[in-house]
Amino acid sequence: MAEDLHITLGSKEDQYVNLIPQIEGLLHGEDDLVANLSNVAAALKQQFGFFWVGFYLVKKNELVLGPFQGPVACTRIQWGRGVCGSAWEKGITLIVPDVSEFPGHIACSSLSKSEIVIPIKQHGNVVGVLDVDSDLLNSFDQIDANYLEKIISLIQWS
Ligand code: SME
Repeated sequence: MAEDLHITLGSKEDQYVNLIPQIEGLLHGEDDLVANLSNVAAALKQQFGFFWVGFYLVKKNELVLGPFQGPVACTRIQWGRGVCGSAWEKGITLIVPDVSEFPGHIACSSLSKSEIVIPIKQHGNVVGVLDVDSDLLNSFDQIDANYLEKIISLIQWS
């Protein structure tokens, strides 16, 4: 059974450092992917108050909306489309300081201003992405990229 999340104040790095062992605890002993993705999204939302945080999963050659926290969102994204589809195509983390300047950005919400998308790889193939949106410009940097990539690596995919 999950304990309440211990919310940490301090620098962004401090917050990630304190969150990661708690996420490890949430994932420990549970092998259901939907359950684990749901709790990771919830833990990130609770700690950081992100506007939107969630997963898109590769299904039949498109990204399909998975567990998330935040306002309702687009359900399907094509390969190469938007920030999520581009991270899938390129296989790299994309940090977008101002979504209005990203060609092809998919505006699920007009309130979203900056975004980071991390591809999730299994055996070299992208199987999904973690998408985090902020209602402020310039919210994400390499610190988020490094720790979010670390968090994704904790999730047992199959
Ligand atoms: N903005 C994303 C779409 C997903 S939502 O933000 C939840 C994109 O351009 O891929």
